[in-house]
Amino acid sequence: MDRIRIVGGQPLHGTIPISGAKNATLPLMIASLLTEEELILDNVPRLADVALLQRILGNHGVDIMTNGKRPGDSAYQGQTLKISAAHIIDTTAPYELVSKMRASFWVIAPLVARMGEARVSMPGGCAIGTRPVDLLIMALEQLGATIEIDGGYVVAKAKDGLRGGEVVFPKVTVGGTHTALMAAALANGTSVIENAAREPEIRDVADCLNKMGARISGAGTSRIIIEGVPRLKGARHSVLPDRIETGTYAMAVAMTGGDVTLQGARPDLLQAALDTLGEAGAKVSTTNAGIRIARNGAGLMPVQVTTEPFPGFPTDLQAQLMALMTRARGTSRITETIFENRFMHVQELARLGARIALDGQNATIEGVDVLKGAPVMATDLRASVSLVIAALAAEGETMVNRVYHLDRGFERLEDKLSACGADITRIAG
Ligand code: EPZ
Repeated sequence: MDRIRIVGGQPLHGTIPISGAKNATLPLMIASLLTEEELILDNVPRLADVALLQRILGNHGVDIMTNGKRPGDSAYQGQTLKISAAHIIDTTAPYELVSKMRASFWVIAPLVARMGEARVSMPGGCAIGTRPVDLLIMALEQLGATIEIDGGYVVAKAKDGLRGGEVVFPKVTVGGTHTALMAAALANGTSVIENAAREPEIRDVADCLNKMGARISGAGTSRIIIEGVPRLKGARHSVLPDRIETGTYAMAVAMTGGDVTLQGARPDLLQAALDTLGEAGAKVSTTNAGIRIARNGAGLMPVQVTTEPFPGFPTDLQAQLMALMTRARGTSRITETIFENRFMHVQELARLGARIALDGQNATIEGVDVLKGAPVMATDLRASVSLVIAALAAEGETMVNRVYHLDRGFERLEDKLSACGADITRIAG
């Protein structure tokens, strides 16, 4: 297994290109199942999760072509995927694939909407929590699917097609909203989603579905109205920039000091996180190239943050903020309200000298003057990058093990950071 070696202490200067958003790319690829025509996606990041979803879609009979490099492409040019689900030959998504990447469970919506049936493995839990799918199943039932659980599989049927309905989510769920959107797009009649997730990736998928001929209004708000249409056509869509990657690198610069332009980043996608970085003492500004983040030698200020659905502070940046706060001058508090077990990074940060106390969903971080490098273990995608952020400011060498977690969500992280002066290398193992 590859490892990443970091020797801390280098400030970051230069430019980091921001890739397309993983959490928009995955549902956009799944949306290709809704039409027999070609869906072309631009600015797709080169990530392990994207490659895995290509395999999963291939299992259903989907053909995916990727463009090679073109003259004039920049080093990090996103890839173009040409996706054709003309013939869906299998409506089963097997456990051995779905268990590797939970979002693949979302194929249940376009499969039952277009084919009238789907048999998708329950994804199972993961490091950060049980991750149930009860609300996704509820949404499909509200739209006319009959559901049964058979041997760990969710079997959804709608022989006469789905019908428009009202989906009221008792709690905000991104996956639930994606599922309801894609199912309702081809349902007979009009649907309303109440208490919908407002994440920018929902809006991006809705924009793409509308290009495909869907009739969706209100995406990005908590009430979305979808007028079902009999079929969708092909389209071309460019994936929006990744707000979590943006926030991650912004926190890395705040941690090491320096001055970096996050190229292609959009401040409107992560305003809460940028506000928190400003409170902590980083200098955040918007340029026409993207977001500029700088911190001079002054110390970091402690913050109090609670994770919330968009537009609140995102849970996917919680571990990264915690790493940053290990060096603040004072006591910070972070409360995680979305997932029940998203503090796996705390023990690993403690190995670097961080002082963090946990009390249920609350973490109290006493800032320290010095972190010292040590071998650490990545446990999940965002926890692993919090270890990189801490290591960039730690004295001496840190070895981050199990970096396959990183590769799921960060494209060429070590290249992007070393180009700005970080002493970071990948050791193939
Ligand atoms: C999406 O996961 C993201 N994944 C997650 O990012 C992100 O952390 C999460 O939304 C919250 O923003 C993708 O977009 C691929 P939820 P999702 O449904 O849809 C509970 C990353 O690092 N819930 O919004 O699975 C659930 O347990 C990943 O990129 C139910 O109870 O999250 C959680 O407590 C990690 N029943 C809360 O809702 C359900 O049926 C929010 O989950 C569904 C969810």
